[in-house]
Amino acid sequence: MQVHNFEKIWLGAALLLIVGFIATVAYGTVGAGVKMVDDSGGEIDPQAVQQGSTGTGFDDPGVVKQNDSHYVVYVVAQQFQFDPGTGDNPIRVPADTRVTFRVTSADVVHGFSIVETNVNTMVIPGQVSEVTARFDNPGTYGLVCHEYCGAAHHEMGGSIEVVPKSNYTYNATEVQN
Ligand code: CUA
Repeated sequence: MQVHNFEKIWLGAALLLIVGFIATVAYGTVGAGVKMVDDSGGEIDPQAVQQGSTGTGFDDPGVVKQNDSHYVVYVVAQQFQFDPGTGDNPIRVPADTRVTFRVTSADVVHGFSIVETNVNTMVIPGQVSEVTARFDNPGTYGLVCHEYCGAAHHEMGGSIEVVPKSNYTYNATEVQN
């Protein structure tokens, strides 16, 4: 059987495209550190979150030190703020350290997305969304709610201050607010 040269070239190009598509999908799945949010954070009663009576870190949200290399941040999202995070109450964490965000909602569905990072999750009342990150570079990172949650959704945001590890002082009283 005779295959014309042009046909061979087209066949080759089509094959390359298919391989390329599979490679990009494979990279997006495992290479870019993308992880689907699962139910590992557990469930929680949103009414108790609102009343501060969950018996968990959400009753007094903020940064909780586990050890020198791991911090957990409890964040309550509600119309239209993050506690901590919004306004003059930024989340302060050390750079180059494992930081686990545990985020829940006291009312409706919100989003929790840290600009310039791949921290991005929905926040669903009744569920705890858990995302672990490591910030290589100190600086201020924007925090945005990216799920429509009501009239002032567009104003719901905050910031994360990532402090060089050597300058970070963990002050347990500071997170009580
Ligand atoms: Cu909260 Cu949009």
